Amino acid sequence: MQKIIAANWKMYKTRPQAAQTAAEIALALKDGTPLDRLAVIFAPFTDIAVVADAIAGIKNLEAGGQNFYPEEQGAFTGEISPAMLRDAGAQWLLTGHSERRHIFGETDALVARKTAFGLEKGFKVMLCVGETLDEREAGKLSEVLERQLASAIKPLDAKLRSGLAGAFAIAYEPVWAIGTGKVAGPAEVLDAHAVTHGILTDILGVAAQNLPILYGGSVKPENAASLINLDNVDGLLIGGASLEAKSFLQILGA
Ligand code: PGA
Repeated sequence: MQKIIAANWKMYKTRPQAAQTAAEIALALKDGTPLDRLAVIFAPFTDIAVVADAIAGIKNLEAGGQNFYPEEQGAFTGEISPAMLRDAGAQWLLTGHSERRHIFGETDALVARKTAFGLEKGFKVMLCVGETLDEREAGKLSEVLERQLASAIKPLDAKLRSGLAGAFAIAYEPVWAIGTGKVAGPAEVLDAHAVTHGILTDILGVAAQNLPILYGGSVKPENAASLINLDNVDGLLIGGASLEAKSFLQILGA
């Protein structure tokens, strides 16, 4: 399976800053990505068009949107539609990120609607799941992952399910490891990915084999190799260390 290395720029970068970083990444990847990996940049809305321009024509380098509202169009002040993101150049959409769940109160039900809508609209969707520290310490890892995955995937109809390969990825991101400098250890990552894979298999059967499971949470150039080379890790989702082209590229080649 092609490994995916994804940058989540969160609420960072003006357009000139985004254009600069994307151009540096594009220049470094013009002859191909290391190990033929797929690189994705989840940029802020206002940056997507300049990022898409900067990376146009570079193989295995794609842009995505960090958020959207699951309606075609309408009176939804402050929201953005998948059609607008496509027009800006996004091929990917992120759903279920812990900052959306915990800061903005997105429920499993909304994450499920967004996931289905994004797929229906022909985007590649990356669904993020992960437990808080309290949940982990209470021994609820499996329960939380089961709830988050089942609520988003079970409602997908047969047509969407049959198109998931190549269009759907899961990012396991323990909430306690995001932006904290606390990276999950290899044993914890192996275990959580095995649990995730087991739940996906229960829901989707053999089709689960084709779905990449990424790890995210305080990934840095120094720890990237030890994570990406774990047997059941199919990619990385990177926040802070993706903001500089140099460190993102180091992780891409780890
Ligand atoms: P981080 O963020 O790499 O800064 O921990 C990861 C994420 O939120 O996707």
